[in-house]
Amino acid sequence: MKITISQVGQHVEETVTIGAWLYIKRSSGKIQFLQLRDGTGFIQGVMVKKEIDEESWEAAKQITQESSLYVTGIVRQDDRAPSGYELTITKLEVIQVAQDYPISPKEHGTEFLMDHRHLWIRSKRQHAILKIRSEIINAVYRFFDQNGFLKIDPPILTPTSAEGTTNLFHTKYFDEDAFLSQSGQLYMEAAAMALGKVYSFGPTFRAEKSKTRRHLIEFWMIEPEMAFMDHEESLVVQENFVTYIAQQVIENCPLELEVLERDVEKLKNIQAPFPRITYDEAIKLLQEKGHEIKWGDDFGAPDETAIADHFSKPVFITHYPKDIKAFYMKPDPNREDVVLCADLIAPEGYGEIIGGSQRIDDPELMAERFSEHQLSPETYKWYLDLRKYGTVPHSGFGLGLERTVAWITGTDHVRETIPFPRLLNRLYP
Ligand code: 4AD
Ligand code: MG
Repeated sequence: MKITISQVGQHVEETVTIGAWLYIKRSSGKIQFLQLRDGTGFIQGVMVKKEIDEESWEAAKQITQESSLYVTGIVRQDDRAPSGYELTITKLEVIQVAQDYPISPKEHGTEFLMDHRHLWIRSKRQHAILKIRSEIINAVYRFFDQNGFLKIDPPILTPTSAEGTTNLFHTKYFDEDAFLSQSGQLYMEAAAMALGKVYSFGPTFRAEKSKTRRHLIEFWMIEPEMAFMDHEESLVVQENFVTYIAQQVIENCPLELEVLERDVEKLKNIQAPFPRITYDEAIKLLQEKGHEIKWGDDFGAPDETAIADHFSKPVFITHYPKDIKAFYMKPDPNREDVVLCADLIAPEGYGEIIGGSQRIDDPELMAERFSEHQLSPETYKWYLDLRKYGTVPHSGFGLGLERTVAWITGTDHVRETIPFPRLLNRLYP
């Protein structure tokens, strides 16, 4: 029977066939150990010379790293193996002997690995990261489905910007100008007025000249938007959402977390509620630690890390000055110079994973912001209509998928958290 490595547990002591690639080979004169991978997992195949036909034995001697194979064998329970199973090989059929696979188990430089990203994703570590990315994606859909949200897909080609005009990707839309979406939020606000609780999950693009371990040019964002919901209520959704993601990964990806040597105790601790501090408190805390920062400045990565180090859970920083945040954020009714917003900062130095806020619902205030930010009411007429026809308090947020994957998997740089990263200096492969 043809099965995958992920299914071996259901076939102990049975003869099975697996389509696989050779990951690593070790051999003594009489035994060959073949580390096999098939995308669903890894397993060791053991081939004993005197128990196998000569053709299979000779084939095994010839095969090189990443050669493609059909391997037939008997599944054995083996508690010493990381996966818990081993395969006693009874037959080996070679599909192709791979020639000079460029990525060897030795150390390679980052640029070399990035140039070979199409092959690098076959490695155990990259496999584990991408598996967890997929698990997080599925957990996102489950969470919102179970909580009464509808999935809405905002457009990617847009005539306007959502987060400011400095980092837009420009393109032509026949004779018109168009931009790749940097956030679906404004459309999600329209969707919330039509459908109540909605979320989007799609690629977003920012022509940011940032070359940091937290910035991608193309990244995936989850953007919920909720009618009749204020800032505080939105924070509760956010902490429950992030808790669910972390706990689902612990439950469903134990092998991958082990490959990555992730400290699971730290992840188990990710349980709502999360601590909240105001921007004012954060500034004070940083000043006490000797950071060069004053009220009105935005936080840099070292500032965020210093704040995060005070907590073992993600922390919400709330009530930022209105001048350093987006035009659509609702001012705090008790204090006009700050807005009802929060950034969620991940622990262990992984930085901001969520940005969110309550939105301005008052048509006059929105008109005021439009003129302050020199936004054209004609271009955004549809957005202003939302404040004209039955405006309601509403809130939403955006979670960056790759930064979340980096944090959960304990990966230093976001370039390893997306299959084919687009970076400031990289469009290949
Ligand atoms: O804080 P941001 O810019 O918020 C928005 O776009 C809002 N419109 C979201 C909303 O309220 N609907 O981005 C949200 C999140 C960040 O917290 C971060 O996790 C991620 O998106 N992000 C990036 N991830 C990787 N590379 C980049 N260049 C990113 N820019 C933002
Ligand atoms: Mg932000």
